[in-house]
Amino acid sequence: MNGVQILEGATKLFVPEDHSSGGPGKINGSVFFNEQMAFNRDISVMFLRAFNKEMSVADAMTATGSRAVRIANEAPKTIVTANDISAYAIPYIEKNIALNNLTNCTPSNRNLHTLLSENVFDYIDIDPFGSPMPFIHSTIQGVKRHGYLAITATDAAPLAGAHAPKCRRRYQVEPLRGVMCHEAGLRILIGTMAREMAKFDKGLRPMLSFSADHYFRTYLQVMNGAANADAALDSLVYIAFDPVTLERSFSKEKDDKHMYGPFWGGKLFDKEHLSLMRTDGVCVRKKCDKMMSLWKEEIDDIPLMYDMSEIASHLKVTTPRYDTFIERMNEYGRTSRTHISPTGFKTELSLKEIFDVFTEVSKETV
Ligand SMILES: C[S@@+](CC[C@H](N)C(=O)[O-])C[C@H]1O[C@@H](n2cnc3c(N)ncnc32)[C@H](O)[C@@H]1O
Repeated sequence: MNGVQILEGATKLFVPEDHSSGGPGKINGSVFFNEQMAFNRDISVMFLRAFNKEMSVADAMTATGSRAVRIANEAPKTIVTANDISAYAIPYIEKNIALNNLTNCTPSNRNLHTLLSENVFDYIDIDPFGSPMPFIHSTIQGVKRHGYLAITATDAAPLAGAHAPKCRRRYQVEPLRGVMCHEAGLRILIGTMAREMAKFDKGLRPMLSFSADHYFRTYLQVMNGAANADAALDSLVYIAFDPVTLERSFSKEKDDKHMYGPFWGGKLFDKEHLSLMRTDGVCVRKKCDKMMSLWKEEIDDIPLMYDMSEIASHLKVTTPRYDTFIERMNEYGRTSRTHISPTGFKTELSLKEIFDVFTEVSKETV
């Protein structure tokens, strides 16, 4: 077993020497590890720590055990199963458990479909290569009543509409292109989860959902019961978008105009849980603090975002200063930054009102 020892958060990790350091990454040796996903793992530790209670956790696709061992070490009230189908992963998982002297983490070498058909957990983490869809039914089966699912999707291109036929096949959704494609991709993932969970008379409550680097990630609370399933389905929307006028509109039904979707139209975050999440001791990267403040601020109950660039080129005016524009917009109606783009914004104002404020602030900029 080749490898190097690194420190991630407060946890020692032994990982393959030739591991990936960015992008979707690839297996160079026999076991996968991607340094860039440290942020993704930081957030899962912060998410679980915020509950501050005993919880059973299955990191169902753990590879080196990095996430499982970090959770067990940094959220010490958890009891963690570190599972991977690959036999090559097991020595890494065992070594990482030993390196951190953990007694609350157990290695497991099973196909997650059998693991989750025979055991139930309070929290299940799924982090596959590409789409999570082949694993979704098993995770729904393996999660306890009102438990939590954390799902990563690295098939960002289909979800963001760059490979529409793939998105239609995997998610049975018509994706959107343009400046809002990443928010749309995130909402396709959650909306698809709502449709899949409804088949089991379960609804969902998004706790934390984000787009980052090359992937989408959502943490969902499973809400058991037919009424919750119906409520989740009721949050799905179809979208009409006119790239010439920039006009967007929403409909519960698909029609000739509202042909994109279905997307999750509800909230992306549980702001109360976000307020309990702490970066200290877990995340030394500035990105965690920056994202936490954007997620807390973001208007998440109104799809979809706008971008300064699309408004400036539509109106053929100079782009105003971002902060000044957001501040001015707030004088007229609820407006926020979005974590999805440094030049994006969410607002309850109409397109006409956006154009008016944009033109006004743009004139002051010149
Ligand atoms: C992207 S890697 C996971 C990376 C890991 N979560 C991390 O943060 O470093 C995907 C892993 O899923 C495992 N896998 C694929 N199919 C599986 C299955 N059916 N059951 C369990 N593990 C599986 C692969 O062996 C691989 O190690």
